[in-house]
Amino acid sequence: MHTNSTTEKHDIKLPPGDTWSDPQMSVEVTQEDEPIDELDTTSPGYKNENTHWWDGSQIYGNSEARTKELRGLAKNGKLEVDEQGIVTFLPRDDDGIPKTGFNSNWWLGLEMLHTLFVLEHNAICDELAKEHSDWPSEKIFDTARLVNCTLMAKIHTTEWTPAILAHPALQVAMAGNWWGILGEKLYKLLGRVAPGESISGIPGSGAEQHGAPYSLTEEFVSVYRLHPLIPDNIAFFSAATGEHKKTYPIKSVAFAEARAPLIEQNLGFEDILYSFGINYPGAVTLNNTPDFLRDLHTPEGRHVDMGTIDILRDRERGVPRYNKFRTLFHMKPASSFLELTGGNKEVAEKLSTVYEGDVDKVDLLVGCLCEPLPKGFGFSDTAFRVFILMASRRLKSDRFIATDWNDETYSKAGMHWVQYNGMKDVLTRHFPVLGESLKGSKNRKWVLRVLEGVG
Ligand code: HEM
Repeated sequence: MHTNSTTEKHDIKLPPGDTWSDPQMSVEVTQEDEPIDELDTTSPGYKNENTHWWDGSQIYGNSEARTKELRGLAKNGKLEVDEQGIVTFLPRDDDGIPKTGFNSNWWLGLEMLHTLFVLEHNAICDELAKEHSDWPSEKIFDTARLVNCTLMAKIHTTEWTPAILAHPALQVAMAGNWWGILGEKLYKLLGRVAPGESISGIPGSGAEQHGAPYSLTEEFVSVYRLHPLIPDNIAFFSAATGEHKKTYPIKSVAFAEARAPLIEQNLGFEDILYSFGINYPGAVTLNNTPDFLRDLHTPEGRHVDMGTIDILRDRERGVPRYNKFRTLFHMKPASSFLELTGGNKEVAEKLSTVYEGDVDKVDLLVGCLCEPLPKGFGFSDTAFRVFILMASRRLKSDRFIATDWNDETYSKAGMHWVQYNGMKDVLTRHFPVLGESLKGSKNRKWVLRVLEGVG
């Protein structure tokens, strides 16, 4: 998450007749960063609250001090949890929001996934302590964090991405990123058989920065603006019986109220995970940002429309407009509003009015939300181009994944944990009742819906 200025604001005055609940919206300006190369003044950079690496900092924190705090008094390398009867929660601050690495946009989806991967960290610690009884707590913590982060990277690569982009070519490409073209079975039989990334995958193929220091680009942030995935309501069910308990509007499961269904309906995380598994996410398309996010009141007192912010940020940070972006990616730009909307006259006319008849002015996000989707894709082909580039780069740039991919760094047990576990294993390890619903199901869809809680 980018760092916002504490002094400067964009004050957006709403035009007469606009029905938003305030006459104006104040949005903090994004803070610029100092350039790495003083001679390069063409590409401004912006400060961020989080690191860009696959380091699980959303759970572990972004500083040594925060990580120590999150470990608290827990022993054997574990993270602190708050056991309340049969439900294990994350420890909370006085404002009702959990102590965790990153919590500014807190809601039940994050509550569920942060808790799951904190439990996973603690399970990895148990395994490492069993295998290495002489290891001090610090060594167990560091190794468990590495294993947990790399498992998340693997789940993201081989399960989440091919689920939201459910095209057969993508399934092969993403499995290839991790296991290489020889595939998982042969990798598990023979290990790495060739030095490069194509035959045996990116892990262990050697880190490479491709001439630019690693960072997630602004364009990657832009295409990850998937706020329409958040539905207006979520229905909660018992995982054991399938009984419908209650349907909550998203607003009632956000920020300090994130745990409401767990507390008010006496549900466990298994019920929450099951419910996310069978609810549908919102479609990533025009006119589908949930009302809650279009009139968002945050605990810090911000009142914003995320639909506006998503566009404003791209403009502020110099992300190219849709047509320019496509041209830079060697894709054909849209020659008219009608072409952009795949022949939808009504939307084309609306857009033409908003953008004063100039299709080159269409914002990247708006263009992506208009575009007809390739079969199986959950978001546009244009967004996909950056997505896939950065998905591989994140693995290839990371020394812990691409270079130090060995028993010495991860331990033998740690390597095995990464390579022989997936999302289904993580879910059923901590919530065995889910095994029944995941058995023989097309769990890719199920797992996808759970993972959409990620944002
Ligand atoms: C209830 C759920 C959510 C809430 C309350 C929320 C809220 C926010 C807020 C307040 C911002 C910062 C706005 C700014 O000042 O620039 C933001 C940024 C963002 N959100 Fe969400 N969000 C939610 C869900 C999601 C989901 C599901 C995704 C994607 C899967 C997502 C992706 C992003 C991205 C990419 C940014 C830009 C980050 C940056 O500028 O560094 N969000 N969100």
